[in-house]
Amino acid sequence: MSLLGCTKSGFILCVGVCLVLLALNNITQPEDGTSILSEIIECGYYPGELCKSLFEGKPAALVVGNLCQEALMPTKKPLPTILDPKKNCSTLIGELHFITKPLSEEEAGNPLAFILTIHKNLEMFLKLFTAIYTPQNIYCIHVDQKSPKDFSQAVQKVADCFPNVFIATKRETVVYAGISRLQADLNCMEDLVRYDSPWNHVINLCGQDFPIKTNREIVDYLKSKWNGKNLTPGVKQPDHIKYRTQISYKEFVHKGKSYVYPTKKGKGDPPYNLTLYFGTAYYALTRDFVQFVLSDKRATDLLEWSKDTYSPDEHYWVTLNRIKGAPGSIPDAGWEGNIRAIKWRDQEGINHSGCTGHYVRDICVYGLGDLQWLADSPHLYANKFDPLRYPLVTDCLERQYRRRVLIGAEVPIEDDWHLPDEYGLLTYP
Ligand SMILES: *[C@@H]1O[C@H](CO)[C@@H](O)[C@H](O)[C@H]1NC(C)=O
Ligand SMILES: *[C@@H]1O[C@H](CO)[C@@H](O)[C@H](O)[C@H]1NC(C)=O
Ligand SMILES: *[C@@H]1O[C@H](CO)[C@@H](O)[C@H](O)[C@H]1NC(C)=O
Repeated sequence: MSLLGCTKSGFILCVGVCLVLLALNNITQPEDGTSILSEIIECGYYPGELCKSLFEGKPAALVVGNLCQEALMPTKKPLPTILDPKKNCSTLIGELHFITKPLSEEEAGNPLAFILTIHKNLEMFLKLFTAIYTPQNIYCIHVDQKSPKDFSQAVQKVADCFPNVFIATKRETVVYAGISRLQADLNCMEDLVRYDSPWNHVINLCGQDFPIKTNREIVDYLKSKWNGKNLTPGVKQPDHIKYRTQISYKEFVHKGKSYVYPTKKGKGDPPYNLTLYFGTAYYALTRDFVQFVLSDKRATDLLEWSKDTYSPDEHYWVTLNRIKGAPGSIPDAGWEGNIRAIKWRDQEGINHSGCTGHYVRDICVYGLGDLQWLADSPHLYANKFDPLRYPLVTDCLERQYRRRVLIGAEVPIEDDWHLPDEYGLLTYP
């Protein structure tokens, strides 16, 4: 039986056995991966054993996992055929394993709002969205104006299946590090404050995020640690960041190319002589603060002033949340708040021991060897993932995640809520 003839699930099943063989034989470095693979190809076993060992950082699991992943790449899973007219909402909801009831009273009573800004990679969007979806929360999806048509249509079709999910009414062509990225969030906020749902916090996510804490854990974390407060980790603008707001930048968009470039024009002080802060563009904000952002003169003037700065989303939220008297603000806040697990290249050796995937714009796209670090991370979400490049990373994560979500449920679990293969993990607690 050839490797290419092996289906994805069959192949992963086989790899589970391979791992066991490796463990039994005490082999840590196969000399020739292919011969091991061909030996195990006709066996059957749960993939959970492999994922579990990867989360524990076992070296043998990494060897096998990486072989497996390389074999998976050319025969990557076909995208779910969302746009197939035969697929109606009930089939989509079942096949994608959406959880269709609140899993606890605590969560039902504390709905969250989400802003998802996405532009491509339907597979990753579906993994993220099916992981974070709950019927009591509310989701605004900002689909980039420049997204491929079939991508936008597929997202729209999924959104149309739920009363609590919608596409942003105003869509931007998002330019990396430009004001359009910030504007996309604001467009969703305009929609969300009008929405008749008692959400208390809004969290923003992008298409390469994945949750590492469950909805229940996030609700508890926000209530216990950040009750009525906004979470925007950051510090006073450091000197090496000042270039971003000292000169005027412009967005360029033309024929599929887009970027932000510096002009020769200098900029004056920010309005109201606001002290600029610098930090993460990811946040959890209270509803009152969102109202403040959309209507307070300091907020709207700072937005206007920020329109020609570099990466304004990395100073806007952080700066507004340090204004005394702004709803839920924390004027003396620093980097605290576990909003996002990110392996920055410049933190290698400080906060992490390297990236086993690869870096994109100095941020790690996680590989298999990063799973253990992710499992131990205190953060709510992690960034970045690419299931086309590292399929096992997201497969393992989403199964472990769903398992944890269902274990925490206080209502009867429906069959469709289980992901295929998830039992592999359940078998080895
Ligand atoms: C959805 O499609 C399935 C399978 O084609 C069919 O059995 C079901 O009746 C449809 N449901 C609705 C609500 O149309
Ligand atoms: C703005 O603040 C800076 C220092 O924070 C100060 O030097 C400057 O005089 C202030 N400008 C105005 C117009 O108040
Ligand atoms: C990075 O590591 C330092 C020192 O261990 C720690 O104080 C800091 O909180 C860490 N930062 C992040 C973002 O994890």
